[in-house]
Amino acid sequence: MKVATSVLSCSTTIEDCMTELNQTSSNYLHLDVMDGNFVTNNTVDMMDKVLKYNQLPLDIHLMVKDVDYYITKYQSFHPDYITFHIEVSKETERLIKKVKSLGIKVGLALNPETDISLLEPYLREIDLVLVMSVTPGKGGQSFRMEALNHIQYLIQKREENGYHYQVEVDGGIKDDTISLVNNVDIVVSGSYIISGIYEEQIQKLRKKCK
Ligand code: DX5
Ligand code: ZN
Repeated sequence: MKVATSVLSCSTTIEDCMTELNQTSSNYLHLDVMDGNFVTNNTVDMMDKVLKYNQLPLDIHLMVKDVDYYITKYQSFHPDYITFHIEVSKETERLIKKVKSLGIKVGLALNPETDISLLEPYLREIDLVLVMSVTPGKGGQSFRMEALNHIQYLIQKREENGYHYQVEVDGGIKDDTISLVNNVDIVVSGSYIISGIYEEQIQKLRKKCK
């Protein structure tokens, strides 16, 4: 299982958070981009600062309405993944093709209360599904159990149809919830990891999902 760390809840300086994170075994930096439109919070300036210091592979989570604008903005950072929300529901097919045409792997994110059948038409071609286990907008929230049904469905669909997408879960992942999701490929964790010595927290998560 891979770990993607979010520094959204960083309470010291971005430079300190990122200096520590760069020295960990975290597989990705999970960049939480919020436009103040799709969600009320706006993290664009903060994430620009984070990118100045980042040395990890990038897993970009777009919580934005204008997906085109942010694909263009971040493509030059050569992210591993760019993920946008199915709830934006504006030209999903065209946006998937746009990300892939840039040689970047594309993900679709799904909120806990969204009907997972919305993903059906895209499952064959996408590289990642980001299962939200909190309502997007901020860090430090509690894990929502609805995510488990979405994860189960996606793993089953992938097996039945030979799809290739990775399953990633995002929100409220701590040492006492990670064992609920030990069948996913990637976990995102923010406040739990940065609440202690980052590498120690990451190792605790890795141990729990062996
Ligand atoms: C929420 C973000 C999540 C969040 C994870 O909108 O997409 O990535 O920062 O943080 P924790 O692990 O604190 O829930
Ligand atoms: Zn996220």
